[in-house]
Amino acid sequence: MITLIPTFLNSVVGLAAAFLLIYGLWRMSSPVTAAAGISVAGLGMLAVVLASFLLVFTVSEAAKPHLVVNVCLALSALAIGGGAAWWSGRKVAMTSMPQMVALYNGMGGGSAGAIAAMELFGNRAHGLTELSVTLLGALIGTVSLSGSLIAWAKLDSLINQPLRLKGQQVLNALVMLITLSVGVYIVFVTQTGVEPLMPLSGLIALFFGCALLFGVLMTLPIGGADMPVVISIYNAATGLAVGLEGFVLQTPALMIAGMLVGAAGILLTLLMAKAMNRSVSNVLFTRFGDTPHKKHGSITGTLKVTAAGDAGIAMRYAGSVIIVPGYGLAVAQGQQKLYEFVKLLQAAGVGVKFAVHPVAGRMPGQMDVLLAEAGVPYDLIFQLEDINDDFANTDIVLVIGANDVVNPVARTDKSSPIFGMPILNADKARQVYVVKRGEGKGYAGIVNSLFYTEHCDMVYGDAQAVLVQMIEAVRGLGLSATG
Ligand code: TAP
Repeated sequence: MITLIPTFLNSVVGLAAAFLLIYGLWRMSSPVTAAAGISVAGLGMLAVVLASFLLVFTVSEAAKPHLVVNVCLALSALAIGGGAAWWSGRKVAMTSMPQMVALYNGMGGGSAGAIAAMELFGNRAHGLTELSVTLLGALIGTVSLSGSLIAWAKLDSLINQPLRLKGQQVLNALVMLITLSVGVYIVFVTQTGVEPLMPLSGLIALFFGCALLFGVLMTLPIGGADMPVVISIYNAATGLAVGLEGFVLQTPALMIAGMLVGAAGILLTLLMAKAMNRSVSNVLFTRFGDTPHKKHGSITGTLKVTAAGDAGIAMRYAGSVIIVPGYGLAVAQGQQKLYEFVKLLQAAGVGVKFAVHPVAGRMPGQMDVLLAEAGVPYDLIFQLEDINDDFANTDIVLVIGANDVVNPVARTDKSSPIFGMPILNADKARQVYVVKRGEGKGYAGIVNSLFYTEHCDMVYGDAQAVLVQMIEAVRGLGLSATG
């Protein structure tokens, strides 16, 4: 009875936490409810972590002498891990979020691998199913750990070049084959009792070593620009690994949470790939955006440059303006100034809307979060499919720090790496202003034909600095001009 109550309570809390996670994930599907969704999911995680301490009442006689030390270790781990997460979460810049996600994702994979290591080295996974699932979770979690760490290093510019070896794919396949063979051999010797060629602990260490190596080899050749998709793939893998280890430990909360993360990660990967019109294998095995692209033969016209103030005043006297934010806005941290400028336009009677492309920026939802951070009301923000028909009836489009998401070659040039990617129809508006620092390319590394069209003017400068000049120019028109 003494052990039944804590076990029962722990299971009930685990189940409740799983529902909180599902509900939280559902709330995260809209920017309006996303923040609350994260809190709800976090509450679920907190509840399940705290409830796991109930299991101190259920430990075996053999483990009792270590109870105090183990509880102290668990509390220390929580304090150190929780403290570091709290501190880094508060301090991280919006543009560094992909790195942070990569790092935490790696830790998730590492945790799944560590659980599996405890089971395997402790010789606690016995039956064929249990052992196979433990090894599978160990493999996926460990690959996710080393792969995510490489992704983090690339995103943080600690590794600047994709490192490729001759015959890389063959080498990767070979390492994976060896890992799988060692795994199968571990199952074989433990199930049949046959004397292994080397001590079992050595085989398990070899298995983990090969899995770590595979994660490194698989991620090193991929270009830094493709890392957001790679992280999403590893995110799905981590979820799967955690779910599998939840099965091994017979912990429903881990199983449900792991599978949720796994399913969400897979969906996110597919959505990102679809929005870029690329396949997942294209991301993993091609050298996207690596080679510098020349101005394509079919692009004619010249770049025309205009002053920030003139562009600002033109928008002040327009009837309708659509703003297309992109990665450069996040880099410049220009969102507050952008909304300040928008409020000036609105005060002058200009109809302003924001158009957000599904892969604008470098991570899903980055632009929505950026605009929300500046206090832009959600009813001004439109997704691609809801606004694309409006461009043709719009006076001015302000493309700010965006590039690929408005590149018309995606519609016309079959040889372009972004051919087929749905783009925002900025080129259909009467006038376009593009704010960027110079002639730098976007993520895809290609020339943008929009910039060379007759009705497009470039405004060169850091997005935030340009917005300051636009605000000053509109303010300079006097109060009567702004309402
Ligand atoms: P990009 O095509 O990457 O273009 C960003 C532009 O911002 C650059 O051309 C750059 O030009 C400019 N820029 C950089 N810093 C700036 C600053 N401080 N001030 C002003 N401009 C600045 O961005 P996008 O249009 O948002 O497209 C996103 C791309 O990322 C797509 O190709 C997409 O497929 C890819 N991608 C997205 C995701 C997700 S989920 N969002 C994931 C993986 C890949 P200058 O250097 O001349 O300033």
